[in-house]
Amino acid sequence: MTRDAETGGQPYLALRGLSKSFGALGVLDDVSFEVARGEALVICGPSGCGKSTLLRCLNGLEPVDRGRLTLDGHEIDLADARQRGSAREGTGLVFQNFNLFPHMRVLENLALAPRRVRGLTRRQAQAEAGELLERVGLAEKAGAYPCELSGGQRQRVAIARALAMRPKLLMFDEPTSALDPEKKEEVLGVIRALREEDAVTMIVVTHEIGFGRNVADRAILLEDGRIVEQGPAKTFFEAPREERTQRFLKAIVNA
Ligand SMILES: Nc1ncnc2c1ncn2[C@@H]1O[C@H](COP(=O)(O)OP(=O)(O)OP(=O)(O)O)[C@@H](O)[C@H]1O
Ligand SMILES: [Mg+2]
Repeated sequence: MTRDAETGGQPYLALRGLSKSFGALGVLDDVSFEVARGEALVICGPSGCGKSTLLRCLNGLEPVDRGRLTLDGHEIDLADARQRGSAREGTGLVFQNFNLFPHMRVLENLALAPRRVRGLTRRQAQAEAGELLERVGLAEKAGAYPCELSGGQRQRVAIARALAMRPKLLMFDEPTSALDPEKKEEVLGVIRALREEDAVTMIVVTHEIGFGRNVADRAILLEDGRIVEQGPAKTFFEAPREERTQRFLKAIVNA
């Protein structure tokens, strides 16, 4: 793993010892990993293993039992309610089901948070929103309502909306699982360009093996809230060490 000179030799992102339970149900157990600046980490694992919960914890949306996040030189104790706010601001999460505001046009969906949180004027926020829409290939949909868009277009608006907050880390929760194969490619293409052209640091929960192998730098298999295997994406997808990972990847291919 490369060290980041700008953050004093520390990794750009480091998660240490994240544990999280919902009441008596332990969901994440001592999860730790690192991501270098501009890298993409893919997380996969069976349904219910804690992938979405992990992203929500990194996004500061969930109280946790233990866990520290270092992001671009800032250390955040995720167990501290006040410090969790900085995880909210530094990270963006694109949800599986888009979560766009249905009563707002696309441009306003993108401009709202930058006005409220980053303090931009309406005009500045709309100008940036227009550029981001162009970035995801949807400039002509600025005036449309979410219900007038296809699933793939909605997902691309959701990606643009997350980018509008200029996050230090962008996370995707199964961004293509609700899409048909062609729309899937559109959305994966946008994510790939963010990784390759804009060097956005990202964590992607996905079971798209082609994407994992060709775009990701590192990969993790999570099972029952624990990391079973983590390593360089190429090794992980082509020659995984653990028998559990081999079985999991085989099951996806055969699905
Ligand atoms: N708000 C909640 N309250 C109680 N239990 C929860 C809550 N959210 C998730 N869980 C439980 O935590 C576990 C992990 O859920 P999570 O949604 O993180 O799994 P996942 O890996 O994202 O699964 P999937 O692949 O199906 O999306 C599950 O057992 C789930 O039932
Ligand atoms: Mg999930």
